Amino acid sequence: MTVLILWASGATWKHVVQQVLNEWKKVKAVVRASSSIPDSWKTNSNLTLITASISQMSVDDMVKNLTGCEAVVSCLGHNLTFRGMFLHPRKLVTDAMKLVYAANEKLSSQKQIKIILMNTVANTNRGIKETVSKKQKLVLRLLRTFFPLHLDNEQAADYLRLNPYENWVAVRPDALIDEDTVTEYIAYESPIRDCIFDPWKTSRINVWNFMMRLITEEILWKRWKWKMPVLYNKE
Ligand SMILES: NC(=O)c1ccc[n+]([C@@H]2O[C@H](COP(=O)([O-])OP(=O)(O)OC[C@H]3O[C@@H](n4cnc5c(N)ncnc54)[C@H](OP(=O)(O)O)[C@@H]3O)[C@@H](O)[C@H]2O)c1
Repeated sequence: MTVLILWASGATWKHVVQQVLNEWKKVKAVVRASSSIPDSWKTNSNLTLITASISQMSVDDMVKNLTGCEAVVSCLGHNLTFRGMFLHPRKLVTDAMKLVYAANEKLSSQKQIKIILMNTVANTNRGIKETVSKKQKLVLRLLRTFFPLHLDNEQAADYLRLNPYENWVAVRPDALIDEDTVTEYIAYESPIRDCIFDPWKTSRINVWNFMMRLITEEILWKRWKWKMPVLYNKE
């Protein structure tokens, strides 16, 4: 099984790299030339590194990267610096999803690729009725207006939701924390608490575990396909 990780140098991917490599025969990982990655990645024969930035990657490049993959996972996120938050590319995650879809269309003869987007609980699934308190709505409106990264996360999920291709899942963690081992976690259709005023924790390693299981367990995939599960560590 081969999985393509889109811009793999972030905290979520790095945290569990060994676990993922143990699980899969092959991983293709896109990183930027400037990304800081462990030296061991460069010599791991199960890991193919692809060095490119989003603006350097054409649809044909993405077709090449996706060829032979069963799944593609995006853990992309804006760096929390002035440049990352406010300068180009402002639609980083949405553009990546568009690129994947355009490439996937060109690969239509192949079996359906699973697309997994790491999204956020702060993004409401507008495809179903989700209850959001008035004060949470207000804060989210401010975030959307002043932080393009939040709008990007919303638009990336909207792009998946409104596209006819149904073989995707957008995983919505709450406040991310680092832990060394997988613990019990629960996936819900919608948030069960206020993500701004009453957040709960989600371990990065649990996010990865859930994503890996989505790729390998067909029953789980069918349960969550075309949905936006919210993931919480079990209390
Ligand atoms: N932090 C939280 O509590 C929280 C909660 C829920 C959801 N989320 C969401 O979860 C996602 C992943 O979070 P994370 O903490 O694992 O992310 P992260 O550590 O910030 O990693 C972001 C990744 O995106 C890459 N990236 C940033 N700008 C890029 C660009 N212009 N071109 C190509 N790649 C670029 C980074 O590459 P470099 O290493 O080269 O910079 C890195 O690989 C994000 O979308 C975030 O919004 C976060």
